[in-house]
Amino acid sequence: MTESLRRRAGWRIRFPRWVKPTIFTACLLPFAYLLWAAFANQLGANPAETLIRSTGDWVLRGLCLVLLLTPLSNWIQTPALVSLRRMLGLFVYFYVTLHLISYALFDMGLDLVAIVADVIKRPFITVGMLAFVLLTALAVTSPHAVVRKMGGKRWKQLHRAVYVIAALGVLHFFWMRSGKQNFAEVWLYGLILGALLLIRIPIVARYTRRAAS
Ligand code: HEM
Repeated sequence: MTESLRRRAGWRIRFPRWVKPTIFTACLLPFAYLLWAAFANQLGANPAETLIRSTGDWVLRGLCLVLLLTPLSNWIQTPALVSLRRMLGLFVYFYVTLHLISYALFDMGLDLVAIVADVIKRPFITVGMLAFVLLTALAVTSPHAVVRKMGGKRWKQLHRAVYVIAALGVLHFFWMRSGKQNFAEVWLYGLILGALLLIRIPIVARYTRRAAS
């Protein structure tokens, strides 16, 4: 794209400088709230459960956002949105790590043997752990230097695992809630993530792009 076109397209190509720090701060708000609630004794009757569930919810919400960025950037012709993927992806990893630490610390008392036994015994924990391992692979390969070292093609192939992670996340949530109340939320996340995966199928992507233009 020529410089004049680039200038005319303005923020659609590159966001103004304040956008990323603002989004970064917004992503820290759930963490800041949980920290405040923990110190102010506002985590409810079961603080451990509140911490585990609330961080788990933010992981799923973050995954939805990350998967929305690319189709949204195509629909509203704003390539700058794609530049937010790395930061949001790393926030997903931050919240899943908090989720795992809360579970390991408050549910399992940091007993490694008990944690391994639980991962083997309870399928919803097995699936969550698998998603965590895959997310770790994406997080460690996110720095630009690693992308260059791996080569764009291999990096892209690996990062397609985000779809598997989203599916495992919903399955984890489904298994965890099965037989309990409030199942509507599981369907909601399942539908949103299912739709986001569907629109990545080339023929569907072409159709939605044509419909949006
Ligand atoms: C991508 C990975 C993961 C996602 C998306 C995820 C998401 C969630 C969600 C949405 C919930 C339910 C929150 C609610 O009820 O509102 C949850 C609960 C939970 N997750 Fe995860 N999770 C992930 C990984 C893990 C891992 C690695 C572990 C531990 C090894 C884990 C352990 C738990 C536990 C113990 C609960 C609470 C169960 C209960 O309260 O009965 N999760 N998770």
